[in-house]
Amino acid sequence: MIRCIAEIDEIRAFVRTAREAKSSVGLVPTMGALHEGHLSLVRRARSENDLVIVSVFVNPTQFGPHEDFERYPRDLARDLTLCEQAGAKVVFAPSAATMYPPGYCTWVNVEGLTDGLCGRSRPGHFRGVCTVVAKLFNICQPDRAYFGEKDAQQLVVVRRMVRDLNFPVEIVPCPTVREADGLAMSSRNALLTAEQRRQAPVLYNALAEARKLIETGARDSMALKQVMADVLSRADLAQVDYVEIVDAETLSPVETIQGECLIALAVRFGQVRLIDNIRVTV
Ligand code: PAJ
Repeated sequence: MIRCIAEIDEIRAFVRTAREAKSSVGLVPTMGALHEGHLSLVRRARSENDLVIVSVFVNPTQFGPHEDFERYPRDLARDLTLCEQAGAKVVFAPSAATMYPPGYCTWVNVEGLTDGLCGRSRPGHFRGVCTVVAKLFNICQPDRAYFGEKDAQQLVVVRRMVRDLNFPVEIVPCPTVREADGLAMSSRNALLTAEQRRQAPVLYNALAEARKLIETGARDSMALKQVMADVLSRADLAQVDYVEIVDAETLSPVETIQGECLIALAVRFGQVRLIDNIRVTV
């Protein structure tokens, strides 16, 4: 039976016992409402570690004041079943008061890398992400932690935090899992109306169009971004937040595609903000 632990002392004791038995520990941090994308991380973690912990915590500090913290889908009972099936031993699901007790005032800020892309329209988002991930690393002390490439900026930012603050954790990137029509799986997809859902694959279509052009020799960022904007404009419910082509490591915008680049976009359908990206190497 999978265990669900809400208290920090208890998960620490659990991890201590596992470590004394020389078990390796893999951590999959999530905000719950689990789907195949999350579960691919859990399975990967299971194949590489003796013990897998999935954290399920809708982290309030990474949501802006007008974002969807309240509306964010939550279903812990279902998440527990899915985690068990995917091979996790324990779900760590703390309360907000446990993670952020009264008087909480310590934050982890990764500078620069968090200025652009999602950081621009979500100020403070990555401060919340880094803070909670650092806390989860300290609480669970994993050997490895699994992150999806779907959240490309998050992955780059967390890796830099781990390097800069010397966390003894290996960050394992995992490929984006998509629906049959190309839409990247996301807990937020459940919030789309039927018509928004029908139009949502436009994110992936725009990225695929850019990849196709790059494969046939296109190198100019501006022109590629224009093509993607044109594809997106065919979906009348899509409001573009950003379309960017950046260096995959520094996240700085590139004018000419070369080396390893990230093509990333964020699009709103009503209140629901979706992101997607692909990596290209030239
Ligand atoms: P959440 O959005 O729940 O995602 C948890 C992990 O699953 C992240 O590493 C994310 O990149 C990965 N993931 C989500 N959709 C995916 C998909 N379609 N394919 C592959 N991986 C996917 O990201 C967060 O939560 C939070 O910011 C968190 C890191 C837990 C900190 O609160």
